[in-house]
Amino acid sequence: MPEPLLLTDLRAATMLPGGAAYGVIGDAAIAIEDGAIRWVGAARDVPGDLADWPRRGLGGRLVTPALIDCHTHIVHGGDRAREFEMRLEGASYEEIARAGGGIVSTVSATRAADEATLLKDALSRVDALIAEGVGCIEIKSGYGLDLETELRMLRVARRIGEVRPVTVVTSFLGAHAVPAGEDADRYIDEVCLPALEAAHAEGLVDAVDGFCEGIAFDTAQIARVFDRAAALGLPVKLHAEQLSHMGGTALAARYGARSVDHVEYASAADARALADAGSVAVLLPGAFYTLRETQAPPVQAFREAGVPMAVATDLNPGSSPLGSLLLAMNMACTLFRLTPEEALAGVTRHAARALGLRDRGEIRAGLRADLAVWNVETPAELSYRIGTNPLHTRIVGGQS
Ligand code: NIG
Ligand code: FE
Repeated sequence: MPEPLLLTDLRAATMLPGGAAYGVIGDAAIAIEDGAIRWVGAARDVPGDLADWPRRGLGGRLVTPALIDCHTHIVHGGDRAREFEMRLEGASYEEIARAGGGIVSTVSATRAADEATLLKDALSRVDALIAEGVGCIEIKSGYGLDLETELRMLRVARRIGEVRPVTVVTSFLGAHAVPAGEDADRYIDEVCLPALEAAHAEGLVDAVDGFCEGIAFDTAQIARVFDRAAALGLPVKLHAEQLSHMGGTALAARYGARSVDHVEYASAADARALADAGSVAVLLPGAFYTLRETQAPPVQAFREAGVPMAVATDLNPGSSPLGSLLLAMNMACTLFRLTPEEALAGVTRHAARALGLRDRGEIRAGLRADLAVWNVETPAELSYRIGTNPLHTRIVGGQS
């Protein structure tokens, strides 16, 4: 462990709720010891026993919690640039999926890629996120749809957390799409559930995800996956109400889901169900933008019900080839009318909650020292600028 360190000459957006906007402390200091935040507060209040610690001045820069991308499909083979062209020529995402393109075409490319290739390709995307201050990434399987490839994707995800200074949280997404020529029920029972058991036995699964949609699985099929997750003691989450209202949000809430993601077509009743379940709504403006959707998620209903909203890239080769979490924040504001403060909470405090992580997402004594230091004056600038990266330094586990 490095020496204790006192960060000084900084403004901290602690993201602690209930006080100043963004939890800002104007002239702040942050004490780091053993990879954790030991103390944070106004510089004039630094406790006497920390006063002679080694100091590092940050030139008045803004410090936030390190960012958290709580929904990605960053491990995958191939690309879908041709589909992008097809959509511009008039085909819809659903038409392409039903014609054997879409998720299923990435499945072919992912099955054909070995572990080294998947890792190398994913790392270039991971490095771009790290360069914008991301310290934690959720990574899903779901482009294998067979036991061997689902496990390979998850092994690559775990490996990313070993070879890069980033925390990886995995989600098993066997119920992502029905493989070409398969029966959906048979696929769930004979492939997806056994793959989940095998992945769990290998310690590869932190949570279980699914895609509840007309082009994927219905609520009864997702319920079978969630029942197995519950039997294994694994938390659940769901892609729901992205393209239509299928009832996935209410189902996920019944299972106490950590998060329900996309949720463009969620209703006010869904919002209340999420609030009661303590689930996070994960907004994915990159997919909304890419698919040129017109129905925005019910942000006002989420606010009124008190549903925490997270924001993520959904980085995937089809519906959201978005490699920037800062741009996702900007899109969440511009397309979904989040405030910049909500967007920053969405990639820090609420993203941590969506992943079940209680040790990060705010700048508070006792949490991990995962911080991002920015060349900006105000926290709103992180959402406001488009296509710029104002990161100065990232500190993860107390180390930069
Ligand atoms: O989150 N909605 C389903 N899954 C992905 C899409 C993946 C793909 O198109 O390859 C999503 O948008
Ligand atoms: Fe997704």
